[in-house]
Amino acid sequence: MTGSLVRNTLELSGIYKAYTRGKQQVPVLSDINLQVKAGEFVTLIGPSGSGKSTLFRLIGGVERADRGTIVIDGQEVSGQRGLISYMPQQAALFPWLSVRDNISSALVTAGASKSEAKQSAMEWLERIQLGHVAKEYPHVLSGGMQMRVSFLRALLMKRNLMCLDEPFAALDALTRADMQRWLLQLWEADRRSVLFVTHSIEEALMLSDRIYVLSSAPATVLREIAIPFERPRRADVWTDPAFVELKREVLALLEYGDSMIG
Ligand SMILES: Nc1ncnc2c1ncn2[C@@H]1O[C@H](COP(=O)(O)OP(=O)(O)O)[C@@H](O)[C@H]1O
Ligand SMILES: [Mg+2]
Repeated sequence: MTGSLVRNTLELSGIYKAYTRGKQQVPVLSDINLQVKAGEFVTLIGPSGSGKSTLFRLIGGVERADRGTIVIDGQEVSGQRGLISYMPQQAALFPWLSVRDNISSALVTAGASKSEAKQSAMEWLERIQLGHVAKEYPHVLSGGMQMRVSFLRALLMKRNLMCLDEPFAALDALTRADMQRWLLQLWEADRRSVLFVTHSIEEALMLSDRIYVLSSAPATVLREIAIPFERPRRADVWTDPAFVELKREVLALLEYGDSMIG
């Protein structure tokens, strides 16, 4: 197998997962098939409780699927940890480390020496306009700032795939729009492969190369949609008639999916 051709890719095939509730097996993911290609920004959008976070736990190797395969960079990896960088909904920072050390520890994980990591952490923090809080501890930062540090940590882990689970859900609308622009800038400079989860149709259309629309649990892929807008994305892309049309299409899918269940 030519490893270089399949680097930074993810392929899920036939993923099925059920949880046991009392005596019952409750299926959460029924048959998930999807891919992330090298350097692609792919988003999963689906109703709350459709199993998106569960899917991330399977990809991260924290839990095992009952059926199906998870292939990263051409290798079956089910149950293996440490292959992806993962950013959960709440900013995940070490409260006992300064902001700078939260970043430098990620760089050490990625293979840098301690002194290189400290230097480089400062440079990165300057680059994202957080140099002035490098010595602070995470709890004194605003939600948006914590999110930026958390995202930078995930980015600098240098894993082949970043999985971002509703990273902006807890932010107010304006901060969220800022964060989306910020994430796009950073991502466009670096082009890591990303699997992103959101509830927001606009966010999915704004950020992604492709989106997968999931049904309610037990989740399956209702539709795969390629997003046609040029990069870098224009800040006013949401005014494009094609954007409005895609938004309508995804909304209809999500509503239709919901009405099938309840
Ligand atoms: N460890 C678990 N044991 C039992 N049920 C679980 C467990 N984890 C998640 N679930 C159930 O699986 C479903 C999907 O949850 P989740 O993956 O968090 O959905 P989403 O992230 O799409 O909102 C929910 O009904 C949830 O209650
Ligand atoms: Mg979730």
